[in-house]
Order: sequence, then C-alpha cells, then structure tokens
Amino acid sequence: MRKLILAAASIAALTFVGPASAQSPIVLKFSHVVATNTPKGQAAEKFKELAEKYTGGKVKVEVYPNSQLYKDKEELEALQLGAVQMLAPSNSKFGPIGVKEFEVFDLPYILPDLKTLRKVTDGPLGAQLLKKLDSKGMTGLAYWDNGFKQMSANKKLVAPSDYKGLKFRIQSSKVLEAQFRSLGAIPQVMAFSEVYQALQTGVVDGQENTWSNIYTQKMHEVQKYITETNHGYIGYVVVVNKKFWDGLPADIREQLDKAMKEATAYGNSQSAKENEDALAEIKKSGKSEIVKLTPEQDEAMRKAMLPVYKDVAPRVGQPLIDEFLKETGRGPMN
Ligand code: LMR
Repeated sequence: MRKLILAAASIAALTFVGPASAQSPIVLKFSHVVATNTPKGQAAEKFKELAEKYTGGKVKVEVYPNSQLYKDKEELEALQLGAVQMLAPSNSKFGPIGVKEFEVFDLPYILPDLKTLRKVTDGPLGAQLLKKLDSKGMTGLAYWDNGFKQMSANKKLVAPSDYKGLKFRIQSSKVLEAQFRSLGAIPQVMAFSEVYQALQTGVVDGQENTWSNIYTQKMHEVQKYITETNHGYIGYVVVVNKKFWDGLPADIREQLDKAMKEATAYGNSQSAKENEDALAEIKKSGKSEIVKLTPEQDEAMRKAMLPVYKDVAPRVGQPLIDEFLKETGRGPMN
C-alpha cells in the first residue's frame, strides 16, 4: 500500500504546478471514509462549494467519500506523503501517528452535549491540541462534529455484564480499547469500511457508532439491537498537508480559510439533525430494535467505565484530562 501511496504522491507533486492560472487550477484532494449523506460528508461538500466559489475556480476540490481512495490508517499516511491534501479523520485516529492527546475526546461520558464540546474546541485547549499536528507534517484547520455513539449487537445490551466476552469493533484508539475492556468485552481495531461485513459474518459481535454512521453503512440491517447509550463522542479534525498549505499563495489560503470557517459552521449546525434523521430512518426500517436505558441502567454503565479514566491517564496525560474536565465543568458521572 505504501508503494501505491508514494506513486500517488509523486503524481500529486507533478500536478501541483505553482501559481494557479485559469488553465491549471490547484487541485485539492479531500479523502474521507464515510458516506456523503453524513455530517462529515455534508461539511466536505459545503467546503468544496465555497472553496471553489471564493477562489473563483482557482482551486478545484475533489472530494472522495466512502474510503474509495484510502482506508482509516492509510489516509493519514497519504496526507503526510502529499498524495491527498485534506482529510477529516476522527479524533480517535491520531494515536497511531503519535498524537495521542486527541484520544481525550474518546473518554466515556466526557462530553454531556455538543454545546460543551464547542466550548472546548473553540477555546484555548482546542487550539493547543491543533498545534500538536504541526510536527506531523499537517496543519489542523477545524473541528467538525459527528455526534454521540450508540452500542449495537445481536444481543440486547442493557447492563455492563451483557458486554462480557463479546467482540466489539473499535477505531484505533487505546481509550476505546480500555473502554471495552472495562466492560469485559474484547475490542478489535478495524477500518470503518470493513465493519458492515465483519458484523454480517460474525467476525465481531458488535460495534459503537453514531446514528448517521450506523444508518449509512447499513449496520442496523445486521445488528438486532442498538442501545441508545450516548456514551461517547465522534468528531473530526480537518487536517491539511502542511507543505501544500504553506505553499499556497496567501490570498488563496485566506479564501480557503474563509470557506473552511463557513463550512464548519454549516456542518456543525446540521450534525445533530442528521443523526436524528438517521435514527428516524433506522426506526422506520424496523430492522433493529432500539433499546433505551433507565436512569439506573445509565448510571451502572457510567460506573463500569469509570476506571478507564485512570487506565489511560499515563497515555493521554492526567493534566490534559483535568483541563478538559475543568473546561466542561462536568464529570463522567453527571
Ligand atoms: C469510525 O471509524 O467509526 C469513524 O471514525 C468513521 C468516521 O469517520 O466517522
């Protein structure tokens, strides 16, 4: 795969030929792993529309959804090598390239709602985290929302003990690994594009994701139950290849910045509704039973996952976790 990415990177280098002219627009390849009718998919389309408009066509944004170019891990490698210019991987996917701090967003029940999340991402902590990407050859431009995760399996998941011994697909995050271990389950890292088949064939028993991802990947068709846990968050960091970004003419970079700001505001204002709509569609399909937890069951789940905070502190950093909790003004138990 690395060879293929390298080949693509050299083609990309050849096609990026200095200042734009009417004949040769600057091509910005934006690769992502989800469907177009998801929060990320929609924000990416909005960015394309605005970027092309504000640059007067000097930049052409090519959006490649659904892992059609690269899967999860390859995506970041491709960005670093310059084979693509822009991505929006979830916070959970930065650990393997050595930026473990973004895994703080994976802590169970760390964010009570999207408003609190915005306080963190729009504040100094959000900016400080983006800076950590510079040394990895990428520039962090924005935070995009998806929403809160739900648990699914072919077994009804109500109590922590229901998870015992089941295999769950996870994104490549040590926090998510610790989360499932705290429930006595077996976590298995797997690329997003492979989840549907893994659920269908029983390679894994269950998974966690947002309503929009579950619906657009048809996971509800191969899972009998989805429990509305809202136990964790999926959001994205929009990243651009640093060399590409720094090499752009200043006026073009400004226009793209403006497009990114507006696409971010648009996407983040739509994400909750997109997840609600996906939930409604799943209900309508009748393919999966939606399980709701009582306040007592919810509390038992929070309690079971509480040890994760201690387990991952050496990796994510206790000061960062404390700062995060201070910003949100909440803890995982409330
Ligand atoms: C996942 O792998 O489950 C998600 O990160 C996919 C996505 O980009 O929303």
